[in-house]
Amino acid sequence: MTLRTHTRIYAGITGVGMAFPERLLTNADLERMVDTTDAWIVERTGIRERHLVEPGTPASALAEPAARQALEMAQVDAGEIDCIIVPTVTPDTIFPATACILQDKIGAKRAWAFDLLGACSGYVYAVSLADALIRCGKHDKVLVVGAEIMSCIVNWTDRNTCVLFGDGAGATVVERLPDGVEGILDWVNGTDGSGAPYLHQAAGGSAKPASHETVDRYEHTIWQDGKIVFKKAVEGMANVSLEVLQKIGASTDEVDLFIPHQANLRIIDYVRKKLGLPEEKVVVTIDRYGNTTSATIPSAMRIAHEDGRLRAGHLLVIATFGAGFTWGAAALRWTPKSSLPR
Ligand code: UT7
Repeated sequence: MTLRTHTRIYAGITGVGMAFPERLLTNADLERMVDTTDAWIVERTGIRERHLVEPGTPASALAEPAARQALEMAQVDAGEIDCIIVPTVTPDTIFPATACILQDKIGAKRAWAFDLLGACSGYVYAVSLADALIRCGKHDKVLVVGAEIMSCIVNWTDRNTCVLFGDGAGATVVERLPDGVEGILDWVNGTDGSGAPYLHQAAGGSAKPASHETVDRYEHTIWQDGKIVFKKAVEGMANVSLEVLQKIGASTDEVDLFIPHQANLRIIDYVRKKLGLPEEKVVVTIDRYGNTTSATIPSAMRIAHEDGRLRAGHLLVIATFGAGFTWGAAALRWTPKSSLPR
């Protein structure tokens, strides 16, 4: 009997896009809304400004331009997409999914589409799924679009949380790569559901349906115990990054660029130090955009790509931590379409 050998199928990110609304909310603006100061916000979070939509703008309005930019970079027609995943905690509507609305807007007629609720880990979870769909041979092209209108679930009277978040979208085309080209190398994801009390939106789901009382109590907005989430996020992101590097047999020295979820500059700094990475290998966008939940990592990828900090063949590690608790990291070679053999 002759044994047959197979080369591994790799999926890779071939296009990336982003969209942010024009309107800026600066720390000076927030000083006029709640009892806070620019100095406190910058020192404790690293955030200077965030972009916000005009009230009533749905997540799909940001998802669409981000998706179109990613498709253009990947030189892929919307009609070629097999599946669309939209990680979001702020969908246009609970149902239909924002992914379905996006499918219609961009004309991705062949694609099946669904939202994924992984909070700040949504993007890493969705890319992991896209990788699995491609590596199992089922699909060739998956569009992953993190899109968030965080401003619609922020309690604008709570200084503990309202300074932290922004609106935005980041999109990636995840594609089967030509044989022999390495892309997404591995990923590790985790969940600890006992973390629910520390970061959540209490009302609006089946546990506590919307009522006048829940709205009066701001229970449709984000609530968190910042200190506990902070500690867990530092530990969680550092550990999961080391775990994924161990799985691919690489050391932190081999990492060309690290893109962490952007929730707090101090969290990013602690994680960077735990990993022993120099500042220039870590992408920071939180100063300009705040925490845009599932959009932070893909939009930071686009920014790093445009800056020339992220180049073809680079070893990129992305890592995240968020509500659930949820966490995850992926290690990948950067594979923009323009760098691939035809
Ligand atoms: O992406 C989802 C995951 N989320 C996160 O990763 C967020 C993690 N947590 C954090 O980023 C931080 O815990 C915060 C930025 C939310 C808070 O920073 P902190 O250094 O942990 O502050 P704290 O909550 O311990 O508050 C310290 C003080 C308190 O005053 P007292 O009790 O010491 O008098 C707060 O009331 O700072 C006060 N404070 C503020 N002061 C001015 C809280 N928010 C503000 C504010 N402006 N905006």
